[in-house]
Amino acid sequence: MTNEQNPKKRMILNAFDMNCVVHQNPGMWAHPDDQAYRRTDLDYWINLAKTLERGGFDCLFLADVLGFYDVYGGSRESALRNAAQAPVGDPMIPVSAMAAVTERLGFGVTSSLTYELPYSFAKTMSTLDHLTKGRVAWNIVTSYQASAAVNLGLDAQISHDERYDRADEFMEVCYKLWEGSWEDDAVVLDKENRIFTDPSKVHDINHEGLNYKVPGAHLEQPSPQRTPFLFQAGASSRGMEFAGKHAEAVFVIGTSPEELRPTVDKIRAQAAKEGRDPQSVKVIVMLTPITAPTDEEAQAKLTDYYKYASSEAGLTLFGGWTGIDLSSAPDDQPLENVESDAIRAMLDMLTRVDSEVVWTKERLGKWLSIGGFSSSVVGSPTTIANELERWMEIADVDGFNFGRVVAPGTMEDFVDLVVPELRKRGHVPQEALEPMTLRERFTGDARLPEEHSGAQYRLGATASVSR
Ligand SMILES: Cc1cc2nc3c(=O)[nH]c(=O)nc-3n(C[C@H](O)[C@H](O)[C@H](O)COP(=O)(O)O)c2cc1C
Repeated sequence: MTNEQNPKKRMILNAFDMNCVVHQNPGMWAHPDDQAYRRTDLDYWINLAKTLERGGFDCLFLADVLGFYDVYGGSRESALRNAAQAPVGDPMIPVSAMAAVTERLGFGVTSSLTYELPYSFAKTMSTLDHLTKGRVAWNIVTSYQASAAVNLGLDAQISHDERYDRADEFMEVCYKLWEGSWEDDAVVLDKENRIFTDPSKVHDINHEGLNYKVPGAHLEQPSPQRTPFLFQAGASSRGMEFAGKHAEAVFVIGTSPEELRPTVDKIRAQAAKEGRDPQSVKVIVMLTPITAPTDEEAQAKLTDYYKYASSEAGLTLFGGWTGIDLSSAPDDQPLENVESDAIRAMLDMLTRVDSEVVWTKERLGKWLSIGGFSSSVVGSPTTIANELERWMEIADVDGFNFGRVVAPGTMEDFVDLVVPELRKRGHVPQEALEPMTLRERFTGDARLPEEHSGAQYRLGATASVSR
């Protein structure tokens, strides 16, 4: 979608949050301005949604995990003490309250298909898509924590690539339910003839696969988008293959636009391989903005934040993401000496920013403590807007997932200070857009595009499901 002031690629603005106190901001819960501990009140979410809508944001993306970060020091002790993504609540439940006070903001909710059943999950998402008037997205994850697996009925984590294989089949079942079960005009609501739904227009999906057997029909009537808008964040080659097939928007992290560009090119090439327009996949990078009226004031804010940043909490999150426990590593030893493929991939990413820097546990902890594994942008609205333009141009990304340092301050600062500058430059429309579904907002159309793999399961599609 282009906006009228500027024919350039429109800038997607997502807020990246989670129903927890410390998301990607280790230590910041102790800052006097941070109110994330109020997340157990519905008002907290309602105010956040109103702020984002006021700022013309496209979407609030809510992450989720199903286990404790218990790799660091071999226990959940540090995670609990530091509120590192624990305690954590459900991402979906606040959404209908936020939808009630907004008309335009989209809501991306994370749900791990490793621990869901497609039949009931499809019903939940259809419900949310109805209640938000088609403003819901699903962040498809397969989960990375052993601590989740053992509490959800498994002896251990399912292996990485097998999780993606199961995910492919899970998606197939969902597409069949969302796209291929109910005809558009199945609900007739004919009070005179006493027919609510025409039974001949509701079809069994007859799915029988390796992991799932679903013979029946979808339980909920078609929602505005049918299939919710699909987010994903696969970084491995199997993950990117999955994204090429399913994702309509892909979340990435990068240390600089130059470092990120090859990853973006790979994602777009994967989509092209699946017969999709490479630019139709929206690539969204996480950044943490720290802003104030002048560059000096923004730098002073950063200095103040560092007083509360916790490297231990950062390394606790890092342990959960990578499975690597750095609790007993010496502070100043170069991490090249730690034997691990996972850490090598991350260090490769970090050293591409500045090959002169030697990464130690101390340096890594400090780096993680502002913005988690994302890069930060610090400065006046002009500086931030220039930086965002640079990321879009050099990395070829479509927009941003903005993390918070303090809640709700980071988002309020962004909306009050940076958004007016982005509006002036034509990146955010001057006037609020007409209310529309999230997919229309991103692609111009409420339904999955014809070339998307899910579209083949539509009723009447040429390669339709057997029924
Ligand atoms: C911006 C971003 C957000 C993510 N959010 C979540 C999340 O909420 N829950 C989750 O389990 N994984 C999340 N992930 C992890 C991804 O789903 C995926 O496991 C990770 O990017 C590694 O990809 P790979 O499995 O293909 O190697 C996120 C990743 C990124 C980059």
